Amino acid sequence: MIEKQEVQELFPTPLWIVDLQPAAAAALNARLKAEIERLIAPRPAIPVGSNWQTTQDLHTKPAFAEFVKLVETAARGVARFLHVDRHPMAITGCWANINPHGAYHPTHHHPNNYLSGVYYVSIPASGSRIAFQDPRPSMIMPKPTQYTRLTANGADAESKEGRLLIFPAWLKHSVGTNDGRSERISISFNLMFKNFSETMASPMWEPTAGKDK
Ligand SMILES: [Fe+2]
Repeated sequence: MIEKQEVQELFPTPLWIVDLQPAAAAALNARLKAEIERLIAPRPAIPVGSNWQTTQDLHTKPAFAEFVKLVETAARGVARFLHVDRHPMAITGCWANINPHGAYHPTHHHPNNYLSGVYYVSIPASGSRIAFQDPRPSMIMPKPTQYTRLTANGADAESKEGRLLIFPAWLKHSVGTNDGRSERISISFNLMFKNFSETMASPMWEPTAGKDK
């Protein structure tokens, strides 16, 4: 009686992965690392498990101009992919994180922005991953014989030097404990539409009466 049974995947969550050419990444990362070290020196004492963070205005500093260009180029690619590139976006915050051995980032998201992202300057040799959490509550979770995108309530991606990740700002994410010997250095950023309240926040429907009065 059944002619066919199909599945249509609804409301997927995108994660954009941008990898630099290895030689370009190595050169850029050396410059970024030196500048981040300079900004954080002298390093204050921090509790075990914590990390050092710079101020959130790196996108305004000339030393990060090359990095800003990289983020803007990648963000334009995302906007084109989503067909929203007629609405210009701007970086609203940009800061560096240094996670020493034992440090981690608990689950969080980045409110009041459209996109968020992270770029990896230095990753411990043991490698590390960033974990993402499904925003939908998974109240009923029968244990499947094999987890897939449709049954898992989390996913992760490899963090590697020279890699830029961009994702929706509402997507909750976390980073596990750095159990490597070297420090994990990354630069995080947020992107939001310029002039959002003036150009995008009015109702999306047309009035049916009261026109031209
Ligand atoms: Fe984050």
